[in-house]
Amino acid sequence: MKHDALASYYSELGRLQFSPGWARPEPSMWPVPKPKFKPAVWRFAAARAALDQAGEFVPVEQAERRNLIMVNPIEGNLYATTRNLVAAYQCVKAGETARTHRHTPAALRLVLEAKPGTFTVVNGARVDMLPGDVVLTPSWSWHGHVNETDQTSFWIDFLDIPFVQLSEAMFFEQYPAGGLEPIKESGPSPFRIPSAQALGEGRDAKLVEIARGIMPTIALHLMRQPAGSRLDVAKTTTNNIYAVISGRARFAAEGGLAETLGPGDVIALPCWHAHAIEAGEDATILRVSDEPLLAKLGLARAAAH
Ligand SMILES: [Fe+2]
Repeated sequence: MKHDALASYYSELGRLQFSPGWARPEPSMWPVPKPKFKPAVWRFAAARAALDQAGEFVPVEQAERRNLIMVNPIEGNLYATTRNLVAAYQCVKAGETARTHRHTPAALRLVLEAKPGTFTVVNGARVDMLPGDVVLTPSWSWHGHVNETDQTSFWIDFLDIPFVQLSEAMFFEQYPAGGLEPIKESGPSPFRIPSAQALGEGRDAKLVEIARGIMPTIALHLMRQPAGSRLDVAKTTTNNIYAVISGRARFAAEGGLAETLGPGDVIALPCWHAHAIEAGEDATILRVSDEPLLAKLGLARAAAH
């Protein structure tokens, strides 16, 4: 075909909403994962200072949105921390209530700082929030937060919003009566998992899965690593986010990133990055991953050895 004829052929294809498979700008398949997301670190001290400032000008009506999203620093990304998950630091100030709502994305929180009197109301049940607690709000459960103490409470939110956006199965609603859902029950809740209790006594190395099966998209593992220990994590399709609960640990990822994290600090380690975790002092760590999502889809794979 002559140049002009070819040009009009391709423009006609475009008009018909076709793209020629033989002239793609980028391949649509490749031999092994080449994640766009990068290993990246966020520090609680920086978030805490910035949230304290936000508390001065972001009003209480927006308390549920007074958070700092950990945006993975890759081109074009405005939101996600890893491919399927997002993490954010949030604060609720003394005396504030974050209104009840529900959404199809599943959520959980790791409490960093909170005095007794901070709680989430989940489907009418009071769920207390103390430092080291993991508090779950599975898909479509009502939840609102209350801080009845005299100090700001801080936690890290983790949600599967990027995946729910991708799937287009997003639903969200405010509590119909407005404000906070009334509390109908209190006491122990399956939605509150104190990390120290889940790990038990002792200081031996331990990795325990918590909340198994409660959220179909998210797996939660609590890790205890004594000072001087090292854990090697293989190269798999799982996208991991780690948050240090106590102690210090150095995370070294394939590709060169190596950072020491302390309490409240977070590292994203996207799929296909083997990594090692070395505890500089006794450390407890929460790992939040999309492992069950990939497993359900038949996409959980590891590199061949
Ligand atoms: Fe929410």
